[in-house]
Amino acid sequence: MSKEASSDIGLIGLAVMGQNLVLNMADHGYHVSVYNRTTTRMTAFVDRVQNEEPCSERVHGYESLEEFVASIKRPRKVILLVKTGRGTDAAIDSLLPHMEEGDIVIDGGNAHWMDTIRREKDIRARGLHFMGSGVSGGELGARFGPALMPGGSDEAWTSLQPIWEAIAAKVDPDTGKPYEDYAAGKPITEGTPCTAYLGPDGAGHYVKMVHNGIEYVDMQLICESYFLMKELLSMQPDEIAAVFHDWNQGVLDSYLIEITADILAQRDPRDASRFLVDQVLDTAGQKGTGKWTSISTLDLGIPANAMAEAVFARFLSALKVERVAASQVLKGPGVEFSGDQQEFIDLIRQALYSSKICAYAQGFSLMTEAQQEFNWQLDFGTIAKVWRGGCIIRARFLQKITDAYDNDPELANLMLDPYFRDALHDGQSAWRKVVAAAAESGIAVPAFMSALAYFDGYRSAVLPANLLQAQRDYFGAHTYERTDEERGRFFHVDWPVDGRPEIEV
Ligand code: 6PG
Repeated sequence: MSKEASSDIGLIGLAVMGQNLVLNMADHGYHVSVYNRTTTRMTAFVDRVQNEEPCSERVHGYESLEEFVASIKRPRKVILLVKTGRGTDAAIDSLLPHMEEGDIVIDGGNAHWMDTIRREKDIRARGLHFMGSGVSGGELGARFGPALMPGGSDEAWTSLQPIWEAIAAKVDPDTGKPYEDYAAGKPITEGTPCTAYLGPDGAGHYVKMVHNGIEYVDMQLICESYFLMKELLSMQPDEIAAVFHDWNQGVLDSYLIEITADILAQRDPRDASRFLVDQVLDTAGQKGTGKWTSISTLDLGIPANAMAEAVFARFLSALKVERVAASQVLKGPGVEFSGDQQEFIDLIRQALYSSKICAYAQGFSLMTEAQQEFNWQLDFGTIAKVWRGGCIIRARFLQKITDAYDNDPELANLMLDPYFRDALHDGQSAWRKVVAAAAESGIAVPAFMSALAYFDGYRSAVLPANLLQAQRDYFGAHTYERTDEERGRFFHVDWPVDGRPEIEV
């Protein structure tokens, strides 16, 4: 590699996601300089790439940051895929002294959006550009087409856009169906790319975080569906796999349903007479993006209970030792099922779809509030479009969300869109039966239940908060508004003695 600047872009951080993103860019004809803090990882990667055409000529490794930066054409674009948090700050600190005015730093990690806001401001003050881009799709997505959610400097976006559009997942422009043939191992060049500039500073990372919040609920709902079939209907994993496979042919068609069918059908590599899923310990981990989403819903006052429940469900799962002990002490009603199995499976399908609509309604409500708080102008139709391919929550139903926001960009809640309203009307009877059956049998389905409570609460013109507000006034003189007065007038009475005058506060 000559010393003159000839690479189109650089990437720091060669864990699997970083390596695959480099190969993806190289596949699309870009020359990529790579650097890793631990040099052996960089050399091992570059050695491996020597056998991969056409990437071998397009990937250039550097041991020093100075040479790495010098090898990139101006304005230099450097992607960071390093450990989020302090790792990103440390990488920026060591990189910036080598960069020049107008150069661009892109953070492709799952950063907290407030960190991205801070970094964008700091880096802008130094005359450079910063972009925070969500990258979704796991290892395969990074390699053959992720969904990319960039935010930050719009000027920098002009430089980055051709590369991001080239490497992003692609969908059929008419149907929104992803073009996916990973097995072919060829870059996908046709179709609408799953990326778009989403807004300034932390907008891209915020949208990626909400994507993950929805991902958490989607996964939990699928797990509850599986659990009902396993516990209530006594079905075997391969039978449940067939159900998910079947569901994947209809409105539930999605990546998560597809991989669930694969997972359930998988035999234990140690003993092919059993299924691997039965040997996997029932404790779920998390890296924190679902928790961030839930914290943000609390901070912004958005009732996204299913999102929080999905996080709590993982926390509860982690209490394995306590749960095992409690199962010997706390007795439930005992599981009983006496209906028609096929019918009940279809009820679960409808409950899943209805709950999923609520999860997305919560995610989009959260983004509606966040854009006001952080001064963004998010385009929800575009966000749904970006999520149609490449990302973990990619699903046929995202096209319907795009349609909903195309029809009404000011939609107050996704559930109010005619398509989703009708779907909820159609599904609610089944949904209620499933939740009732789970409650009667003592099977925990927190996401199904909380989504239903959200639906019922949101469609209730009257809630019991009149009593709640009266309680607050009783013990804390927190005042109340009256149904027979205009909004914004607040009253207090000295409870509980009748006849005391009401005062306006
Ligand atoms: C994606 C995923 C990705 C990652 C999550 C997993 O969009 O590609 O969401 O970002 O798999 O960080 O999150 P948890 O470890 O919290 O489940």
